[in-house]
Amino acid sequence: MKTIKLGIVGLGTVGTGVVRIIQNNQQKILATSGCQLQIKTIVVANLAKQRHIDLEGIKLTNQIADIVADDEIQIVIEVMGTIDPAKSYIEALLDSGKNVVTANKDLLATYGNGLITHAQENHVNLLYEASVAGGIPILRTIATSFAADQITSVAGIINGTSNYILTQMSENELTYNEALQQAQELGLAETDPTNDVSGKDAGYKMAILTQFAFGVTVPLENIFVAGITQITKADILRAQKWGYVIKLIGQARPVDDKLSVSVEPMFVRKDHPLATIKNENNAVLVTGSSVGEVMFYGAGAGELPTANSVLNDVLATVKDLQLQQTGAKFNNFSRTTDLLVAQQQKNHYFLTLVSKDDSRVTITSNHHKHQQTLSKQKNDLATELSYQTKPISVQQFRTMVEKLKGTEKLTITAAYPLLD
Ligand code: HSE
Repeated sequence: MKTIKLGIVGLGTVGTGVVRIIQNNQQKILATSGCQLQIKTIVVANLAKQRHIDLEGIKLTNQIADIVADDEIQIVIEVMGTIDPAKSYIEALLDSGKNVVTANKDLLATYGNGLITHAQENHVNLLYEASVAGGIPILRTIATSFAADQITSVAGIINGTSNYILTQMSENELTYNEALQQAQELGLAETDPTNDVSGKDAGYKMAILTQFAFGVTVPLENIFVAGITQITKADILRAQKWGYVIKLIGQARPVDDKLSVSVEPMFVRKDHPLATIKNENNAVLVTGSSVGEVMFYGAGAGELPTANSVLNDVLATVKDLQLQQTGAKFNNFSRTTDLLVAQQQKNHYFLTLVSKDDSRVTITSNHHKHQQTLSKQKNDLATELSYQTKPISVQQFRTMVEKLKGTEKLTITAAYPLLD
């Protein structure tokens, strides 16, 4: 029986999950890989911190050199997150011939191409399934099961923390701050949750997903990103009244022969498959020109689901080591296409408005040169009206809202892009 020795960098939520799965599922790992996994060394920032797992037989250190210089360690799991010092650690590990498995979306989205080249030059694996959608095996699935299909669109809920907050605000009467605190206690949020709620975390994941689905490297500045911090309980209730839920949606799709990539809170029809995704769960709806729509659903964050994705990469690497074929790219699909700049991404927008004098109102939009009479709904919102635009850019939408605000007869009560 062969033993593969592992190093781990980072022992937070995901690192702890990795240790637990290796300890609890030894028999299954042996049965599927023919190898035993042994964690030899773990690099942590704080050696004095109390850990609630069994670390017997494992060396704890705060020196990355203890792994880099250890020739016995063949696979290293990087789960410390963020870019510094993870980037220099991973470069040193790749240079010393270690295969690296990482969950680091910030790093892959920002410096992915350089690191992938680095890994290839050293004939070692660099795998990162856990970087997108936690426990959902979406990257390997796109790379392998869509290899012959043309993907025409990817739309998903890919941040567990923000989906948890929106679900709790809408269903359990929690305030934004209470829901965020719960998400942190559950180990869903990043150490600093700013990126979760600003949409940036989902933006990183969209950059990686787009690379797999469309073969295109998207600079982060080309991704239109908006977060959930401005969403109010009133917005959520208003969406419900009009038959929608508000979800933070990441999308990549061709628009006018260019690729559009965005992350923003959207009105999603209640009967849309993505409207049913709750709490920390994620879902990715992939449309292929042959296969049609396929949706992948599961826990998008959290200790064991994310650690399971890490272990999938570890066992894929064990297999590559056995076959002496490490060093292949995780995703081979690559092509060039023009990208839309962030402010040019287009959506239908849904507005709700209140007419101050209950008269019939007509909105004229310069952007699509047509007039539309607002539909009125006589419900308990009295004279609240809804208006749906043609596809317009963020810039056009903002101009339109400013104009409407200047209309004495109207008050805008909600304004969100619509998921088609
Ligand atoms: N903070 C992330 C989330 C963890 O909430 O989705 C998984 O990437």
